[in-house]
Amino acid sequence: MTHEYNVPRTGQPDPAVLLWRDSAKPALEHGRGAYTILVMDTKRGARTDKSTIARRLAEARERTRFLLARVSDEDLAMQHDPAMSPLIWDYGHIGNYEELWLLQKAHGKNLSARELYDMYDASLHPRAERPSLNLMNREDAGVYLDAVRGAVIEALEGADLDGDDPLLKDGFVYEMIVQHEAQHNETMLQTLQLKKGEGYRPDAPVEPPAGGVEYGEMVPVPGGPFAMGTGDRARALDNERDAHEVHVSGFLMDRTPVTNAAYLEFVESGGYEKRELWDPVGWKCIKQERISAPKHWYQPEPHSWWTQRFGFDEPLDPALPVVHVSWYEADAYARWAGKRLPTEAEWEKAASWDPTSGTGRLFPWGDEPPTPEKANIDQLAFRAARVGAYPAGASAYGVLGMVGDVWEWTASDLAPYPGFEPFPYKEYSEIFFGPDYKVLRGGSWATLPSAIRNTFRNWDLPVRRQLFVGFRCAR
Ligand SMILES: [Fe+2]
Repeated sequence: MTHEYNVPRTGQPDPAVLLWRDSAKPALEHGRGAYTILVMDTKRGARTDKSTIARRLAEARERTRFLLARVSDEDLAMQHDPAMSPLIWDYGHIGNYEELWLLQKAHGKNLSARELYDMYDASLHPRAERPSLNLMNREDAGVYLDAVRGAVIEALEGADLDGDDPLLKDGFVYEMIVQHEAQHNETMLQTLQLKKGEGYRPDAPVEPPAGGVEYGEMVPVPGGPFAMGTGDRARALDNERDAHEVHVSGFLMDRTPVTNAAYLEFVESGGYEKRELWDPVGWKCIKQERISAPKHWYQPEPHSWWTQRFGFDEPLDPALPVVHVSWYEADAYARWAGKRLPTEAEWEKAASWDPTSGTGRLFPWGDEPPTPEKANIDQLAFRAARVGAYPAGASAYGVLGMVGDVWEWTASDLAPYPGFEPFPYKEYSEIFFGPDYKVLRGGSWATLPSAIRNTFRNWDLPVRRQLFVGFRCAR
C-alpha cells in the first residue's frame, strides 16, 4: 500500500539452494486471467476456519494473477515511477512475505535461501535499487509462489488456531497475509496507472451505478463521545487497536467526496496561484514541481480538461470524485472553500458510529460485508463511481461513499492510540508514527474488501499523489 513492510530477518534459511526450484511445477497462466468477486466473512473478531483461510488465500492469488496477466514481461520488469517498485518485485515479494510469515514465523519452516529473502526485503533495497536486482522473472516467481502456497496449506492443516500463539490465534497471521497481498494489488494498480508506454487495458467486469448526487451538501454530526479503533485481534492491525473513547465537538461533514467539478472551480479561480491558501511546505512543493492541477489532468485547449486513466485519454467527468491530489492540494482546496479537512476521529465517527445503538459499525452501512450495491471496492470497476452513487452505503449519519471509490485525506498525523503495542513487528506501523505522515481513510475502488473497514488506517507523505486518493471537507 503506501508504506513498505520492512521485514526484520530472523533465523537463516538452511540450504544455500532454492529448494522450491526442484519441487514445484510452473503454474502461472499467461494471457487473460480469471477473476471472482471477493467475498468475506466480516463478523467482528470472528475466528476464521481453515477452509475459509485456504479459500481466501487462493482468491487473493487469483486476483494478483488476474491483474498481472495483461502486463507484458517488459513492463513487469521496468520501474515505471521512482515511487514504485517494478511489478515483478511486488510479485516475488508477495510470495516471500508469505513464506516469511506463514512458514518461517508461524511454523519454523523454510523453503528459500537467504539471498531470496534479502532480494525481496523492502528495508534492504530502496525502490531505486530494485530494478537492478536479479529478480525472478514471471515464470520463476510463479513457480516459487505456488511452492510457498503448497507448503503453507500443508502447514495450515496442523496449525493450532485456538492456542496462545498470538500470531496463529484466530488465524491472525493468515488474515495479515491476505491483507498484504490485497495491499500489493492496490500498489500494483497505482504502478499501472503510472505506467509509461502502452496503456493498461483491464477487463472491467463491473460497471458502477450511473446515479449520483450534486456535491455540496453537508451533514451534521453531533458532538459527544464515541468508540474509536477496535479491540479485534483476529483481523485488525496493530495501529487500529485498542478501542478507546474519543470526544469530538459537533461538526458538519461533506455528504460526498469533493468532485472534479468542484475542484475545477478551485483550479480555474487561480487556487494554485494564491499563496495564502497553501501550507508553506505545500506551496514550495507545487512551485518547485510546477504543479497546477491534479496528477494526470491536462488541457488540450483552454477550458477543456482531460485526464489519463491507465494510459488512455478521457474527458474529465465532473461528477466523479477528484483523485490523485496531494494532502497539500486537499488542504488548500478546503481553505479556499471556507472549510477544512476532517480529523481522523471526525472521519471515523461519521463513518462508523451508530448513535441509536451506541456502537461502532464495521462498515458505514453496518456489519454486513460489502456488496456491489453498497460500495465501489474490489478493483473490478477500475475507476471511481460518481459521488453519491451508493445510497445503500450511507453511514448512520447519512454520509455517502466513505468506503470505496477514493481514499480520503484527513487532517491528522499518524499517531498511536492509547496503549498501542507494536505487533507483530515494530516496522509494521510504529516507525511511521509522527508528523511526517498523514492518515488516509476509507479505501478506494482498488482496495479489496479484506483490506478495508471503518477502523482501517492508511498513511502517506503529504506530497504523494500516486494513490487513488481524494478527500471531503468538514466545518
Ligand atoms: Fe509488502
